[in-house]
Amino acid sequence: MGEPLRNDRFPRASKYDRDWIFELQMGPNALWLMEWLCGDLDLQPGMRVLDMGCGMAMSSMFLAREYDVQVWANDLWIPATDNWRRICEQRLDDRVFPIHAEANALPYAEEFFDAIVTVDAYHYFGLTDDYLDRFARLVKPGGQIGIAVPGRTIDLPDAAKPAHLETWLAEEEGAWETWQSAAFWKRHLGRCDLVEVELADTLEDGWRDWVSFGELTLAAGEARPPGRADLARKEVEAIREDAGRTLGFVRAIVRRRS
Ligand SMILES: C[S@@+](CC[C@H](N)C(=O)[O-])C[C@H]1O[C@@H](n2cnc3c(N)ncnc32)[C@H](O)[C@@H]1O
Repeated sequence: MGEPLRNDRFPRASKYDRDWIFELQMGPNALWLMEWLCGDLDLQPGMRVLDMGCGMAMSSMFLAREYDVQVWANDLWIPATDNWRRICEQRLDDRVFPIHAEANALPYAEEFFDAIVTVDAYHYFGLTDDYLDRFARLVKPGGQIGIAVPGRTIDLPDAAKPAHLETWLAEEEGAWETWQSAAFWKRHLGRCDLVEVELADTLEDGWRDWVSFGELTLAAGEARPPGRADLARKEVEAIREDAGRTLGFVRAIVRRRS
């Protein structure tokens, strides 16, 4: 075990090895975002939890260890066999189950999960009007769905992309349009009759975590996407200049009506 990646705001995540995090990261620290999200979820030991868009299953392993839940680690871009190897390395093979499935063709029984979480992923597949109507059926009545994503800190129209973000976002096609505000998510998710929106908010000073994680990964030579240190640098510079005026992290929690 190497040195942990400490951040006082996220004590649970602060126990985890920095090299392991840098190797498995696919966005601005899934462990920090997952810990923030779980702070307002009613997770109980033994629950069945779907980690939707789990990437390299880092957040899934974190959930199993920290909250003693069983996790179905579902992803599209990352093969299930690769995630299974990582899960076995961490000796979590009795509690974390990797699944390769597209968000619109999920293989689960309705009402199978006690809770669903999704970090830095829901905006890729959940922006259509009817997605939650189908997705919410996978959780039991009374169960929660928690979403944490990069997003706008204020409710801006898509056309109002700030000039200081242009150079970076020109290379992140479509990102701005999917990074929506807490108010947007509240309206969007609230249209689904199956659920009640419990919470939609913005991480205070989340941009500072975004910048610090970007700097740390760059310093460790693990820029994201791989081989694009130039783009990762542009991202850090843009987020630092923005200083939370327009971008940060947003979460929303809904509960399926009983
Ligand atoms: C930016 S990565 C984040 C991964 C991980 N949650 C993290 O934060 O490190 C977005 C993830 O969403 C998943 N994803 C995107 N579109 C998807 C879809 N249509 N169905 C299932 N997963 C999808 C991708 O496979 C990818 O791993």
